[in-house]
Amino acid sequence: MNARWLDAELEDADRAPQRRGTSKKKKLLGRRRLDDLTAEDPDRIADDTIRRLIDLGHITEIVAELKSGKEATAYVARGPRGSVLVKLYRELEARSFKNDAVYREGQVILDERAARAMGARSRKGLEMLQAGWVSAEYAHLWTLWRAGLNVPEPLVGPFPFDYDATTPAVLMRLIGTEDHVAPRLSEARLTPEEAQSAWQQAVQGLADLLRLGYAHGDYSTYNLLWWENKVIMIDFPQLTTRQNPHFQELLRRDAHSLATSFRKHGVQVDGEATLREAQRLARGKGPEPRIVLP
Ligand SMILES: Nc1ncnc2c1ncn2[C@@H]1O[C@H](COP(=O)(O)OP(=O)(O)OP(=O)(O)O)[C@@H](O)[C@H]1O
Ligand SMILES: [Mg+2]
Repeated sequence: MNARWLDAELEDADRAPQRRGTSKKKKLLGRRRLDDLTAEDPDRIADDTIRRLIDLGHITEIVAELKSGKEATAYVARGPRGSVLVKLYRELEARSFKNDAVYREGQVILDERAARAMGARSRKGLEMLQAGWVSAEYAHLWTLWRAGLNVPEPLVGPFPFDYDATTPAVLMRLIGTEDHVAPRLSEARLTPEEAQSAWQQAVQGLADLLRLGYAHGDYSTYNLLWWENKVIMIDFPQLTTRQNPHFQELLRRDAHSLATSFRKHGVQVDGEATLREAQRLARGKGPEPRIVLP
C-alpha cells in the first residue's frame, strides 16, 4: 500500500487549482435534478459553507485561497481571534474517502442505517463519511492540542455540537502569517542544522502520537509545517488508534514515509531505525498538557 503523500506526488496533486465540475454535462432541469445539480457543485458548496461560517461568527472574511488539493481546499481567513486556516473538504468522491476503510477498521458504528449507507457508498453515505472525517479531524486536533503536541489550535469546539455546524470545513489557527504562511517541510529550504533539528522534532512528533496510542496514517514532510524553527503536524482525519488491526502496519508505514521524505533534506536514516527511535522516545516523558479555558 502506498502512502497517500506518495500517491499525491505521483499524481502531481500540487498543480494549479482546477475548476471542478465545469466539464460535467448539465442535466435536464427537472425539480429533483436541479437539486442534485446544485448540491453537487463544489463551488456552490464552498460559497454556502463560507457564508455559514461568517453567519456563525467563526470568521469575518476570506483573505485568500491557499491551496487546492484532492480532497480539501485550504483558505486563509480572518476571525475574531486572529488568522484562521479553513480546510474545506469538497469532493465527496475524493479518493481517500474511497480508500478510507483501512483507517476505519476497528471503529464501531452504532447506527445500523448509517453503517449500511456508508457501506453502500450512496450519496447520503458519502456525506456521512465526509462528516465523519470532519468531526474526526476536529476531535483529534482537540485531543492532540490539549495533550500539548505541536499541532494547530482548533478554533471551533471542543464539543461536537459546535464543530458539527461547520461541516464540511475544519477551522484551526493559521501557522505563519497571512502574508507568509508556514511552508510544508517538503518545500522548505533548510540548512543542515535546521534539517537535523526538523528531523529530531518530526521523530519526536511520531513518538508523541504513539505515546497517546495513535498513528498518524499519512506522516511525512508533506503533512509537517515549518515555522520559526518548529515542526507542526497537520492533517489528522485518518489518525488511527491501537484498536485498528492495521495499527502496527500503519505506524511502520509512517516511519518509513517520514524517513523517505526527509532524504531530500540530506537526512539519511532507515525507516526501521526511525520506527525503533520513535518507539524508544515514546517510552519517555511527553509534553506538558495545555489548559483549555472555556
Ligand atoms: N494550520 C495551518 N496553517 C497553515 N497552513 C496550513 C494549516 N493547515 C493546513 N495548511 C496548508 O493546507 C494544506 C492542506 O492541508 P491538509 O494537509 O490538512 O489537507 P490535505 O487534505 O492533505 O490537502 P492536500 O491534498 O492539499 O495536502 C497543507 O498542505 C498546508 O500547506
Ligand atoms: Mg495533507
